[in-house]
Amino acid sequence: MKPIKKAVFPVAGLGTRFLPATKASPKEMLPVVDKPLIQYAVEEAISAGCDQMIFINGRSKRAIPDHFDKAYELETELEEKGKTKLLEVVRNIVPDHVSCIYLRQAEALGLGHAVLCARPVVGEDPFAVILADDLIDGGGKTCMQQMVEQYERHGNSILGVEEIPVEDTSKYGVIKSTAIEERLSRLEDIVEKPSPDKAPSNLAVVGRYILTPPIFDLLASTEKGAGGEIQLTDAIAALLKIQPVLAYAFEGKRYDCGSKLGYLQATVEYALKHPELKDDFRAYLLDYVKHINPSG
Ligand code: UTP
Repeated sequence: MKPIKKAVFPVAGLGTRFLPATKASPKEMLPVVDKPLIQYAVEEAISAGCDQMIFINGRSKRAIPDHFDKAYELETELEEKGKTKLLEVVRNIVPDHVSCIYLRQAEALGLGHAVLCARPVVGEDPFAVILADDLIDGGGKTCMQQMVEQYERHGNSILGVEEIPVEDTSKYGVIKSTAIEERLSRLEDIVEKPSPDKAPSNLAVVGRYILTPPIFDLLASTEKGAGGEIQLTDAIAALLKIQPVLAYAFEGKRYDCGSKLGYLQATVEYALKHPELKDDFRAYLLDYVKHINPSG
């Protein structure tokens, strides 16, 4: 079985829910405390054994290559000022054994189309897809680490899934599946953004996938679906007709950082765990909530 070495990061979405912050900068560059979302995602891929990071960029995406590039001027400045700790932070954004590759999605035609853009680099290898705006705190093991472990046992495509409130099904790809063991099930059906009365369950796909190469041919022949976009969900529905696809209910907590509320929740909870900040921030929050009027 080929190992998962390549991670694809679709970062070409328009991020309309976060305008105007995302007018000139991608939403994946929004920081949670002191790190941009895309860096959390890259660290997760590295933790799972990936060493090729493939970014699918859209318009105004210079910030992402710049973030992962060497910053000579900044490094020299920090070195001259003796700011060694910060210098290490800036230098160690990606370890030396990891390479970054940037591809372009000229038009935001949907997540499925963005993944298809990775084909020339991914080729015939199985690969991971991480949507950086779904920030997942996996606790002991990162979400992608857990999924790669499942892949190594089964060798199939795997979707990261989570239980969601029934009223939210129209925001997600929703699955129907048969349980194999605790947390793991076999996909029977997948539907993009069903209304609650049409949803096959309340198990939703969140931004973590391990996919096998046949997905590319299926994506290439996928017509525009929900929202006029080429949907990854539709190609996965076709994939499960030709080979098993698994769903894995990962351990950990997900924050939907593509929405303002989810982003704020992540910021508060990551700040409460941040080694330098946690004590002061906790004291501030406890004091602040005393003054909040519950009736608004
Ligand atoms: P979203 O559904 O969150 O869309 O995309 P969006 O455009 O980024 O954000 P909103 O809804 O307008 O606020 C899910 C993921 O797919 C990527 C996005 O960057 C995000 O990581 N994506 C989406 C692409 O790379 N290309 C696309 O054409 C669409």
